[in-house]
Amino acid sequence: MAIAQRRLQIMNPNFLSLAIALSLLLVISSAKVFFEERFDDGWESRWVKSDWKKDEKMAGEWNYTSGKWNGDSNDKGIQTSEDYRFYAISAEFPELSNKEKTLVFQFSVKHEQKLDCGGGYMKLLSGDVDQKKFGGDTPYSIMFGPDICGYTTKKVHAILTHNEVNHLIKKEVPCETDQLSHVYTFILRPDATYSILIDNEEKQTGSLYSDWDILPPKQIKDPEAKKPEDWDDKEFIADPEDKKPAGYDDIPKEIPDVDAKKPEDWDDEEDGEWTAPTIPNPEYKGPWKAKKIKNPNFKGKWTAPMIDNPDFKDDPDIYVFPKLKYVGIELWQVKSGTLFDNVLIADDPDYAKKLAEETWGKQKDAEKAAFDEAEKKREEEETKDEPVDSDAEDEKDESDDAAEGDASDDDVAEDPAASVDEDAHDEL
Ligand SMILES: *[C@@H]1O[C@H](CO)[C@@H](O)[C@H](O)[C@H]1NC(C)=O
Repeated sequence: MAIAQRRLQIMNPNFLSLAIALSLLLVISSAKVFFEERFDDGWESRWVKSDWKKDEKMAGEWNYTSGKWNGDSNDKGIQTSEDYRFYAISAEFPELSNKEKTLVFQFSVKHEQKLDCGGGYMKLLSGDVDQKKFGGDTPYSIMFGPDICGYTTKKVHAILTHNEVNHLIKKEVPCETDQLSHVYTFILRPDATYSILIDNEEKQTGSLYSDWDILPPKQIKDPEAKKPEDWDDKEFIADPEDKKPAGYDDIPKEIPDVDAKKPEDWDDEEDGEWTAPTIPNPEYKGPWKAKKIKNPNFKGKWTAPMIDNPDFKDDPDIYVFPKLKYVGIELWQVKSGTLFDNVLIADDPDYAKKLAEETWGKQKDAEKAAFDEAEKKREEEETKDEPVDSDAEDEKDESDDAAEGDASDDDVAEDPAASVDEDAHDEL
C-alpha cells in the first residue's frame, strides 16, 4: 500500500489526493450512524436528566464545559460537578437491531478529578424506558467503559445482558487512570467476535462464546470418564537398582559422648555405675531410602477427555440486541470531574476511528500541554502555601492542624464511599 501510494505520488500528486478523497467519501457514505453526540449547542434538547435520587438530594448536577484543561475550549462535553452524588442522564435514538450488522459504541471520557472510586462507563438500553426514572435499577443491554475503585479495580467493563442476566467479560482489560481524555470503543460483530479499543488501539479481542459465559461452554470434560487402572501418573519412582549399603542399619542414631567425664563426686555405690550421656551420631542418616529416578512408564497427569456439552444449544443471535433505543450514563461518584464527550453508535469501525482522530486525536497534544501547565501552577501554589517562617512554635501548630484535618477528611471520605460503592457493585 505504502509503496503503491508513493509510486502514485510520483506519477501524479493530484490524482492521489483525488483518490484518497474519493475513498474517504466511500468510507463515510457507507457508514451508518445511529447516534452521534458531540455536545454542541442544543444538546439539552436531546438528553433527558433523570429525577433518580433527586428526592434524597443525592442527584448530582452536570456541568456543560470543556473542563479545566482541554485541546479546544469551544469543544464542550458534560462533566459530573458534585462529589458524593449519583448521576443519570440519557438520550433516545431511533430503535435499531444490530442483527447482521457490526455495532460500534464509542465515547471519550476524561477524569479531571484523579478518579479514585467511580465509574466512567455508558449504557445502551432497549425497549421503552421512562427516561425521567432512569437509574441504577433500569435494565440495560450493554454497559461499557472504565471503572476505578481503590487499587484493585481499574478496568474496562463490558457487560452484555442476555435473558435479563448481566454477563461480565471474563478477560481483564485495564483502563486508563490519568487525568486526560481517552476514547473507549466497543465493537460487536455478526460473527460473534468483539474488540475493545482505547484511543484507537485494540486492547482486547475475541469471541462472545469464550470471553463471556452467555451460553454454556460448547465442550466439557467427560464426567463419565475414569482414570484407567493402569494409568501411571507417578513422575518419579524409587530406583530399583539402588541397593542399601552393607551395615547401613547398624549405624546407631545416638552415640556416647566421648568428651563427657565422670563427675568428681560420683559415688558408684550410691549413684550406680556411671555411663557417659549420648549425643546424636553424625554418621546416622535416617532410614535408608532408594534414590528417586524418572519413571519410564510415566504417562503424564490424567485428565478427562473433552466431549460436546449436552447442555450447549447454539444461539446464532448471541450478539444480537434487537431493540436498542437509548444511550445513558448512570454513575455513582465519590469525587466528581468525569467529562463525557463524542458519543457514537454506528455500524462502521472506520467511521468511529475517524471521528476519534478528528476529535480526541487532534486535541490530545494541546490538552496534555494545558494539563502540564495546570499541574505546574498547582504545584507552585502548594509550595507557596507551605509554611516558610522558621518559628518553631508556629510550625508545630500548623502541622498539628494539618494532621488533624487530614484525619477527619479521611474518615468522611472512606465510610460512605465504601458502603455505597459496594451497593453499586452489587447491582452489577
Ligand atoms: C464547570 O466547569 C468549569 C471549568 O472547569 C468551572 O470553571 C466551573 O466552575 C464549573 N461549574 C460548576 C457549576 O461546577
